[in-house]
Amino acid sequence: MPPSPPVPAASSWAPDSWRARPAAQQPAWPDAEALKRVHEQLSGLPPLVFAGEARHLTAALGQAARGRAFVLQAGDCAESFAEFTADGIRDKLKVILQMAVVLTYGAGLPVVKVGRIAGQFAKPRSSPTEQVGDLVLPSFRGHMVNDDLPTGVARVPDPDRLVAAYQQSVATLNLLRAFTKGGFADLSQIHAWNQEFVATSTEGRRFEDIAEGIDRALRFMDACGINLSDEDTLHQVDFWTSHEALILDYEEALTRRDSLTGGWYDCSAHMLWVGERTRQPGGAHLEFLSGVRNPVGCKIGPTATPEEVLDLCGRLNPERLPGRLTLITRFGVDAIDDRLPPLLQAVEGAGHPVVWVCDPMHGNTFTAEGGQKTRRFDDIIGELQSFLRIHRATGTWPGGVHVELTGDDVTECLGGVERIVEGQLHQNYTTTCDPRLNARQALDLAFRIAELLRS
Ligand code: PEP
Ligand code: CO
Repeated sequence: MPPSPPVPAASSWAPDSWRARPAAQQPAWPDAEALKRVHEQLSGLPPLVFAGEARHLTAALGQAARGRAFVLQAGDCAESFAEFTADGIRDKLKVILQMAVVLTYGAGLPVVKVGRIAGQFAKPRSSPTEQVGDLVLPSFRGHMVNDDLPTGVARVPDPDRLVAAYQQSVATLNLLRAFTKGGFADLSQIHAWNQEFVATSTEGRRFEDIAEGIDRALRFMDACGINLSDEDTLHQVDFWTSHEALILDYEEALTRRDSLTGGWYDCSAHMLWVGERTRQPGGAHLEFLSGVRNPVGCKIGPTATPEEVLDLCGRLNPERLPGRLTLITRFGVDAIDDRLPPLLQAVEGAGHPVVWVCDPMHGNTFTAEGGQKTRRFDDIIGELQSFLRIHRATGTWPGGVHVELTGDDVTECLGGVERIVEGQLHQNYTTTCDPRLNARQALDLAFRIAELLRS
């Protein structure tokens, strides 16, 4: 049974109480009336997820907080209105299911599967403008806000995009529910998750070995007379959605009171997180997330101090409910050794039950000579290795990993077994924001994590 939800937040909290706080990274919507209309429209539309589902995810994350499960949070940096196909969603799900099997089989742990999907449409930006060729344009802020085309008109924030993002999220989630509950995620389909360009690679063949091992185990149990057809866990998968709760007008409009418990839930996704650029103490984003009862996350970058992190644990999880709060650290391979240990000591010392998740992507981004943002596979592995080693030394549980990936054969991150080099980045570079692991690199990463967790 999922735990009972936390006691109600301070009585001053309301879905719109964030409006009294400074809100970083909000678009300069040019037409306040149009925004208001959209807000009213969204407020009347059905929720994407239910409160009871969010409570189940809190319970599953609670197992990761206690060291009994591992979280795999993965998906696009930014979902795209332009690239929205059933095949794209299926292929992303395939690689996440493959990674989860590798981790479950290799490390013998239940894996909590959370997508950066069905709502991950808004991006915080380091600078309000960006240079494209000779032009200086307002920054692209994700398809929920503006378009990535390099023209001034395309970059004007348009509130109708909030509705389009909602609709795309509905369709995506509908397909995810069909795939994960309707047979595609059945363990007997495991070979079908290996896409052709993956199956022919070393990691793909290693995956086939695991798949055959699982096949044999299922046949063995069947031959022993064990009836597997009633075992839901073999035929269905719990797959949860998450995104950065960045555009608070959108999140507020999808926040609903649960009829069962009376608590407020942000029904735009099962889990929401606040980003590195919007986690200001006393800021609007922490205020908003403090009052919804979904499981929530917070990104933690290299400038975070132990005091700041303790402050946000207090704001986001005052009841100290295991699974309510996930801290997603993203320091970079060179900073993690220095930055992570004092935070672990402070949080553990204060007795806050958090899920520690490593995002080895966002601290390792740089611009290649050709101008593309990229990341080195070796840096990503390096940060993960340090994460696991430091947790082992501190006696804390490395609760999971958070990565940006796609099921496609993209060339956005350098290295991996294909040894992608800078000169190849242009070959299939399709992300609208940050560089993602391709399916082979993602599977390789899962094998490395499984080995590290086992050792
Ligand atoms: C992201 O997750 O895409 C992101 C912008 O991360 P961060 O807030 O950690 O920079
Ligand atoms: Co990103």
